[in-house]
Amino acid sequence: MELSDVQADLTETLLTEDQIHEKIAELARRIEADYAGERPLLVAVLKGAVMVMADVARELRMHVDIDFMAVSSYGAGTESSGVVRILKDLDADLIGRHVIIVEDIIDSGLTLAWLRANLESRGPASLEILALLRKPEAAKVEVDVKYVGFDIPNAFVVGYGLDYAESYRNLRGVAVLAPHVYS
Ligand code: PRP
Repeated sequence: MELSDVQADLTETLLTEDQIHEKIAELARRIEADYAGERPLLVAVLKGAVMVMADVARELRMHVDIDFMAVSSYGAGTESSGVVRILKDLDADLIGRHVIIVEDIIDSGLTLAWLRANLESRGPASLEILALLRKPEAAKVEVDVKYVGFDIPNAFVVGYGLDYAESYRNLRGVAVLAPHVYS
């Protein structure tokens, strides 16, 4: 697909690549201070969080481990149901580790609520969440998120890992998808 075709699918840029990187640097400085002397384990859920994971990990001036999970939400449709099946589990043992879940977006909060409970039960020394984007208006459950990048409106956003039907994940910024694409 040509770049001009992609532009026609988007109504507005919500966040530029520079804005995202500036925010990630800010969050990284906080993490460096909060985890001084520790070696945190960053955990991301495929696939959306891959870009945030790559940028957060590279921005951190400290040793970290990174690990990935793949999950599948039961129930059809684009909305998550909160009932989750693990397709690929973490390689790492969480016992005694300082774990930071790295997420691209919190929409309903159901995925993270499930994930937090699941990882909590594995005995980490601490467990916090970093989410680049959060949609406060879409929240169905409150999730305690220590590191939030941006609160955004309840619009259909794509880019920087976020997809519509698996497209647009590779956009460098975050943009609003034009209704003609999905309606
Ligand atoms: C997205 C995102 C979060 C989840 C947030 O993943 O990466 O994990 O949805 O939604 P929630 O707050 O309503 O639970 P998705 O299931 O779309 O999979 P993907 O990362 O592979 O795109």
